[in-house]
Amino acid sequence: MAILADDFLLSLPKEEWYGPCGHDMLYQFKGFWFTPHILEGVLQFLKNFKPLPTDVILASFPKTGTTWLKSLVFAIINRASKHSLICTNPHDLIPTLELQVYSSNPTAAHTLTSCDANTRIFATHVPYQLLAETAIHSSQCRIVYVTRNPKDTLISLWHYMGTSKGSLKKPWKIEEAVDKFCDGVLPDGPYYDHVLRFRKEGLERPQKVFFVSYEDLKDDTKEQVKKLAEFLGRPFEKEEEAEEIANICDFRAMKQHEVNKSSDSPEWLEFPYSSYFRQGEVGDHKNYLDSEMIQRIDDMTKDKFYGAGFMY
Ligand code: A3P
Repeated sequence: MAILADDFLLSLPKEEWYGPCGHDMLYQFKGFWFTPHILEGVLQFLKNFKPLPTDVILASFPKTGTTWLKSLVFAIINRASKHSLICTNPHDLIPTLELQVYSSNPTAAHTLTSCDANTRIFATHVPYQLLAETAIHSSQCRIVYVTRNPKDTLISLWHYMGTSKGSLKKPWKIEEAVDKFCDGVLPDGPYYDHVLRFRKEGLERPQKVFFVSYEDLKDDTKEQVKKLAEFLGRPFEKEEEAEEIANICDFRAMKQHEVNKSSDSPEWLEFPYSSYFRQGEVGDHKNYLDSEMIQRIDDMTKDKFYGAGFMY
């Protein structure tokens, strides 16, 4: 794949952010921020991806529950092979389009995509504002979007960045992370614009976009698994099947598998497999954000979400 032309990058607004090396640049493309490496994959994906009507696309802002959603949807679609989740990390079962399929090293991505030959499952962090310009918008393919409380999303991201090599040299200060979150200058950010547009699509086209929150999944996983299976056209015959999938994908069960404890990194990203399974709780931000930071994010959430009729 060609490296992005310098003059193209130079034409884009740029901002510094922490990044996996402790120092990185983000470039703003159509209102959203990307590293050059990911932007390359995003552009290739938007230009070349041809959705099939049977495709399922799992969409999310980073750290909102992507790994969990991958596990659940993999198990729902591939019921006979659901135990693959014991020995394979969910990210190696369902590839992320801009990172694993349209990357400089797209090797095994297509063979890894789902065991069910009739249903390809992909993931993406690309905002709907960009997907809307592609065939994904008009295709019959289904999209499942997971979102999460903004403060827990931020804290999850802050910890995740702390598992990168750069953090050993220079940890990311929490104050800086809060500033970047509020400014929207994070990969695939701004968070609020990302969430709101998928929610809008979910409301307007519920047969196309299934919108679910991390908190709803936590609250009643089995019920959400049943709804997801119905949305995906794979309803369960027996109640116990949904329960079994909820249990297989439960955080504690997933975290104990050797493959998910591994300090190895996948070839497509510099974070260890173990970094996708940290705490898995709702409300962990209370242990890290002071009252001023909480107030600042809450004010922003009210401003961005409440006006759009979305409560968090
Ligand atoms: P925490 O950092 O709060 O623990 P993503 O998959 O989008 O990168 O999000 C990662 C977050 O989802 C992490 O949150 C991680 O622990 C949590 N997570 C991963 N698998 C999960 C599961 N099966 N159930 C609940 N949470 C899960």
